[in-house]
Formats: sequence, C-alpha cells, structure tokens
Amino acid sequence: MSHTTPEVTVRLATESPDRSYPIHIGRGLLSQGNVLRSLVGNRSVCLVTNVTVAPLFQSSILDALHDTGTTGRKVTVVELPDGEEHKTLASYERILTAALEDQHERSAVFIALGGGVIGDMTGFAAASFLRGADFIQVPTTLLSQVDSSVGGKTGVNHPMGKNLIGAFHQPIGVIIDTVTLETLPDREYAAGMAEVIKYGLIADANFFDYLIQHTEALLGRDEALVAEVIARCCAIKADVVKRDEREGGVRAILNFGHTFGHAIEKEQGFGVWLHGEAVAAGMSIAARISAGRGAISDDTVMTLTNFLHAFSLPTKAPDGMGMEAFMSAMQGDKKVQAGQIRYVLLESLGQAFVSSGLNESEIARNL
Ligand SMILES: NC(=O)c1ccc[n+]([C@@H]2O[C@H](COP(=O)([O-])OP(=O)(O)OC[C@H]3O[C@@H](n4cnc5c(N)ncnc54)[C@H](O)[C@@H]3O)[C@@H](O)[C@H]2O)c1
Repeated sequence: MSHTTPEVTVRLATESPDRSYPIHIGRGLLSQGNVLRSLVGNRSVCLVTNVTVAPLFQSSILDALHDTGTTGRKVTVVELPDGEEHKTLASYERILTAALEDQHERSAVFIALGGGVIGDMTGFAAASFLRGADFIQVPTTLLSQVDSSVGGKTGVNHPMGKNLIGAFHQPIGVIIDTVTLETLPDREYAAGMAEVIKYGLIADANFFDYLIQHTEALLGRDEALVAEVIARCCAIKADVVKRDEREGGVRAILNFGHTFGHAIEKEQGFGVWLHGEAVAAGMSIAARISAGRGAISDDTVMTLTNFLHAFSLPTKAPDGMGMEAFMSAMQGDKKVQAGQIRYVLLESLGQAFVSSGLNESEIARNL
C-alpha cells in the first residue's frame, strides 16, 4: 500500500448520486473546516456530542460553522453524558427535544461528534426527526472510524438487549480527522484494532498479512499508516454495504466474531468488556472453529492470536463463561433467524460465510 490516503466513497445499490456519500479522511479536517462547511451549506445544525469529546473537538466544529459568512446560523449543541449505558431512548429523546425546542426544520443537519455511541444515537434521532433529516458522522474513536460511522445502522439499546431499536439511515458524509486519535486511550484504540483485523479475516487476506507485518507501527500509532488502514477498512465496509444495505445477505459477514462477542458483552454486563474486546475474543473463537474444519490453518489462528495479544486484547471467553451461558445469551441475539443462531465462519483467510449449522461441541471445544 502507498502512503497517501485514498478518498473513499460509499455508493449504495441504486447508484443514484443521492444514495452515495463521501468519507473524508485526513489530518486537521476539523480545524480546516471546509469539508464540514461544504456538507452543511447554509443550513441550521444540531450538534450532538458527549461530555468527554466536547472539550476536545467541539470548538473546531463551532468555529467552522460560524466561519461561513452565513449570519445567524442556528446551531443547537446537545451534550450527553458519556457511556454505553446512556445509549438509551431517554438520550435519544433528549436530542429530539432540543432540536424541537430550538424549532429546527427538516432541512437541519445533525452532526454526530464522538464514538459509536454518539454516532448511533444521533443517526437514529436524525432518521426520525420530522420524519427524516440529514446527518453527518464525525467519528472520533478508531472503532467508529472503521466501522460504525459507515453503513447507516443507527439506534439505541433497550433493557432487553443492545441496539434493539433503530433504523437504517445513511449519513450524507463522514469526516474522519486523524488528529482525534491522539487523545484516544490505548484501551479504546486497541478495541478499534479488533474491528480492523476483522476486515482482513473476512474480506482481504493481503490486508490481513499487511496488518500483521505492520504490528509494531500500528502499536506506535504511525499516523500515515493508520490513516491508510482506516481508508482500507472503510472501502471494504462500503463495498459490503453497497451489495447489501439492509443485511439481507452478505452484510452479515461483518458480524464475524459478533455472535460470540455480543453474548460475552451481555453475560458480563454491558461496559465491563469493551465491544471491540468482546469481538476480539469472539473472532478468536470463530477462527478456531474455522480452523477445526480445515478452512484456515492453525498457523493463521496463532498469527491472529499474537496480533490480538500485542494489543492486550482477549482471545478466549471470560473465565467461568461456559457453553450454557453462551447458548442462552446467543438465543436472545437479534441476529437469530427462525430460531436459528447464525454464526459467521471463515471458508478461507479473507472469505467468510454465514452458517447456522454449528453443533454445541464444536463451540464448546473452542471457547
Ligand atoms: N452502527 C454500526 O454499524 C455499529 C458498528 C459497530 C459498533 N457500533 C456501536 O458503537 C458503539 C461503540 O463505539 P465506540 O467504541 O466508539 O465507543 P464510545 O462511543 O463509547 O467511545 C469510547 C470512549 O471513548 C471516548 N472518546 C471518543 N472519542 C475520543 C477521543 N478522540 N479522545 C478521547 N476519548 C474519546 C468516548 O467518550 C467514550 O468514553 C457501541 O454502542 C456499538 O453498538 C455500531
């Protein structure tokens, strides 16, 4: 790969221009402001962020929005508490109430400034505000930059499970400023790296090898390399989403490691393991099962394990979490279809498929 960051465009199935959107990736995009201004135009804005991210990057956005010559642009800022436990209908209502109180019209643009929690909630609020307003993703965690900001899944949690309420609503643009990663804690960076290696496993064996070869530089957060890696992940995700926007088929491969991962998150209590940590363990389980079927080599499993360990990510189920706990948590997953749990496995390195035919002993051996 070369060290210039390619532009990525998400083109959805119909290929009509209004169903495509750009993903801008680069250093300093927020402080430069012009990308944001061109997406927003002269429209009013509802900026949604949280108490952690607001002091870091909110002023860049506000400066960009007020530096337009547009006098009197209405900007409402909604600053939510931080954490997955706040990804609720109550927070969603708070966003909508703020937008309604400030009398925004449907032409308003919602901006999600933060990680996946803020992105998912803001997108859902935009999807339903006056029956649908535009929104822009400004993801500030590695996980949200390579995954949640692209593809249009939005929503909130319900006490009965994660992401059970939501909508498909694509953003009009994604702005990834790599400066934002400078303040991201190591644990969050590592959690994002789990989703990064997932793309190599499910879609691109060369990319998997490339990541393995550059483990040290990725650990050191080499900025040009990380930007390039983000672009490759976004391109893979955009390609999958283009083929299957609403997860009727191939999009499900993006859930590699997630059936087991969601079970771990649910069993541990949300927030104990980060989403990316649970996915790392879930991918390791799925990779071991795939190797047991001869689809990938034991060497590949070892390479994956070493990569995840380098980032201090788990590769096994949590202590004490056995088969029974997995099965009961997985039965409640929203990816269950007609009573069948759907697993994503590898058919070779770089190729994944959805299977419902896993026997319990195959799972139990590989937890
Ligand atoms: N929509 C999708 O397709 C999709 C895909 C994957 C995950 N998700 C969702 O994304 C969420 C997880 O996203 P996440 O991992 O970004 O978690 P998050 O949004 O909770 O962010 C992680 C933490 O990092 C902080 N933070 C964010 N940016 C920062 C920065 N630049 N510097 C310092 N701190 C920063 C946040 O305030 C938070 O404390 C989950 O709710 C998950 O369900 C959605």
